[in-house]
Amino acid sequence: MSEPHSDALVFFGATGDLAYKKIFPALQAMLKRGHLTVPVIGVAKAGWNLDQLRARARDSLEKHGGGVDAPAFEKLSMLLRYVDGDYNDPATFQAIRKELGSAQRPAHYLAIPPVMFAVVVEQLAKANCTAGARVIVEKPFGRDLASARELNRILHGTFDEAHVFRIDHYLGKRPVHNMIFFRFANAFLETFWDRKHVESVQITMAENFGIQGRGAFYDQIGTIRDVVQNHLFQVLANLAMEPPARTDSESIRDEKVKVLKAIRTLDEANMVRGQFRGYRKEPGVAPDSKVETFAAVRLEVGSWRWQGVPFYIRAGKSLPVTCTEVVLRLRRPPKLFPTCSPAPNYFRFRVNPDVTGAFGVTVMDPDDQMIGQQVELLASRHPGANEVDAYERVLGDAMQGDATLFAREDYVEEAWRIVDPVLKANTPVYEYEPGTWGPSEADQKVAPAGGWHNPTVAA
Ligand code: BG6
Repeated sequence: MSEPHSDALVFFGATGDLAYKKIFPALQAMLKRGHLTVPVIGVAKAGWNLDQLRARARDSLEKHGGGVDAPAFEKLSMLLRYVDGDYNDPATFQAIRKELGSAQRPAHYLAIPPVMFAVVVEQLAKANCTAGARVIVEKPFGRDLASARELNRILHGTFDEAHVFRIDHYLGKRPVHNMIFFRFANAFLETFWDRKHVESVQITMAENFGIQGRGAFYDQIGTIRDVVQNHLFQVLANLAMEPPARTDSESIRDEKVKVLKAIRTLDEANMVRGQFRGYRKEPGVAPDSKVETFAAVRLEVGSWRWQGVPFYIRAGKSLPVTCTEVVLRLRRPPKLFPTCSPAPNYFRFRVNPDVTGAFGVTVMDPDDQMIGQQVELLASRHPGANEVDAYERVLGDAMQGDATLFAREDYVEEAWRIVDPVLKANTPVYEYEPGTWGPSEADQKVAPAGGWHNPTVAA
């Protein structure tokens, strides 16, 4: 059943960094496709007026939106409203109510720090802005299990779960969603997609840049909270889930939650944290910081399909390349030819910078010897550059009421449950050289049999 479209978008944090880098570009893209026709009400406390917000939007599009598209920008300027005020002040919310006019089903997008959620939600309710409304919230959704539960409690005080949209922009990436499509649109994958055939699964999210001036934010967060607990667990869930009974949002999200439920809580022995040399000198970072910029973890999905198969996740800043890639390594074939010990077959799925699905197979050496050569069978490859931006997709879906690409309450709590103890364990953090694959401890302590597969990216 299709849900009614939101008839206004209110976004808190309109003068902030996220709006500047992601939201205005997403709005322009939606306008270009004709997907945005409702008023857009920016809210912030900056002492600005509407013209200043328009100028900021223009600047954002020039720097981060691939340039200003004149017709789209004209429409945006017409749809844009601005409310300046303190989030603790009821007058701010009365002004929002006024701008909403006859809107019956606004979407309130909280692009603000989670500590502000409670006051904003409460004030929205008091100003009669929540009936029929949706709320869209940014990551990080809490910083541990207890704080995530508290945020859920706050949101559910006013909105029921069907109207809460927790953003994980990785889900808005088409190649990430395509994992589900590719798996269940191809029956032959099912013949090896299980513990009998798969030896290990590894997921690498490498970034060849540091923290890009986000020291004050990053030093409160670290890699596990920043990308492992959310983005990479979503990738893992797409790889490990069972086929959903139907393709509606709840049937898909039910299966993903089951994957997390089957994962035992992470312990210290299955994790290595690293920090790139120079991190502590970054502005906003404590000089004695023990926050990780690299993490490698080993998890087990104890389900019927996956029990005994280790899942490895590795993510880090200042690594050699920027690439997110999954490798399912299959069990080694028995040795038949005396001169050839074939390498294990594998399936490789790359999310960025290009989108690739490929199978690693062994063929006979062309020089007619009975030795093997490993080649890849390419299922598909295309440049990722033309993908619809993840923010455009998730904002559009939230306004349409399609929750498939959002993290559900039980999902976020399970995800925090898995990492909660290690976040508090104060484990060692090993230094690594920028431009390397993290500390050597990751290769010794939490590496797949056969070693980590280090992605290469064409220059
Ligand atoms: C964000 C993290 O959620 O995802 C960043 O906070 C990270 O640290 C980013 O760089 C990666 O996403 P994308 O879409 O740029 O690959």
